Amino acid sequence: MSTDELNPPLLPVEFEQLRAIMYASVGIALQVGKEELIRTRLLKRLRELRMGSFVTYIAFVQTPPGRKEFSTMVDLLTTNKTNFFREEAHFDFIKERVLPTHRNERRPVIIWSAGCSSGEEPYTLSMILRDAIPEPTYSKCRILATDLSTIVLAKAKVAQYDELNVADVPPEIQSKSFVPSPPVDGIRRYEVKPEVRKIVTFGRLNLNQAEAWPMRGPFDLIFCRNVMIYFDDPTRERLVNRFAELLSPGGFLFIGHSESLSSLKTGLRYVKPAVYEKV
Ligand SMILES: C[S@@+](CC[C@H](N)C(=O)[O-])C[C@H]1O[C@@H](n2cnc3c(N)ncnc32)[C@H](O)[C@@H]1O
Repeated sequence: MSTDELNPPLLPVEFEQLRAIMYASVGIALQVGKEELIRTRLLKRLRELRMGSFVTYIAFVQTPPGRKEFSTMVDLLTTNKTNFFREEAHFDFIKERVLPTHRNERRPVIIWSAGCSSGEEPYTLSMILRDAIPEPTYSKCRILATDLSTIVLAKAKVAQYDELNVADVPPEIQSKSFVPSPPVDGIRRYEVKPEVRKIVTFGRLNLNQAEAWPMRGPFDLIFCRNVMIYFDDPTRERLVNRFAELLSPGGFLFIGHSESLSSLKTGLRYVKPAVYEKV
């Protein structure tokens, strides 16, 4: 039988095992009803590894030689979708409410992008800081960008994006922020300029790891957008309260516009959709 013909079902007991592993390791609660989607996402990997059943795969990712495969599995089961200037209302809010004070007081802005995916979010933040905050204060600003996935982090560090990605950047910022490279196979790539990159530091962090987070803060702004959608309420509540501890008074937490904290007990004050303040 060729590997393409391997087409095992994902049995209910296997789905439950996957759910349990993902929840315990990274806090992601796979949804009942999404079994077929999950099976499709993993099937290609099973074929590549010539494994004929999910039970074999699940057992493998839990062994020491399967540790790397475990990260691949997590990548396949999460969504890394992102883009430059995504949910632009947040960047307008920062320009209006946050940056004028920092500019006037010549105070650097310290930001954490938690769940930064391939880097578009932290680089967008750097671009708007560079646009609004003159030197030498801009060079003292810091953006920490973390994600669980080493694959997206590698892409973020390379900082090269194709024309379609860059089309989301307003033209006046685009020309100041990217260097175009000659087209390869008809596709032009754009590299984020060193001046934009220099204040951004990438690192791997599982937000749901058992150990304490290594960063101390305080942060003026924390972005955790479209990440907690995977987590259940107790996990989200614990995370948001940890973010709150790391925010400076008057600092803001930004979540995705499709998310809400209204069902959680947090010390943060609602400001406007997807924006919360530490008072
Ligand atoms: C949909 S992307 C969001 C990217 C960006 N924040 C945005 O809104 O455009 C979600 C990211 O969260 C990351 N993620 C999921 N679970 C995580 C966890 N437990 N710890 C850290 N990052 C996680 C995924 O790897 C993915 O890159």
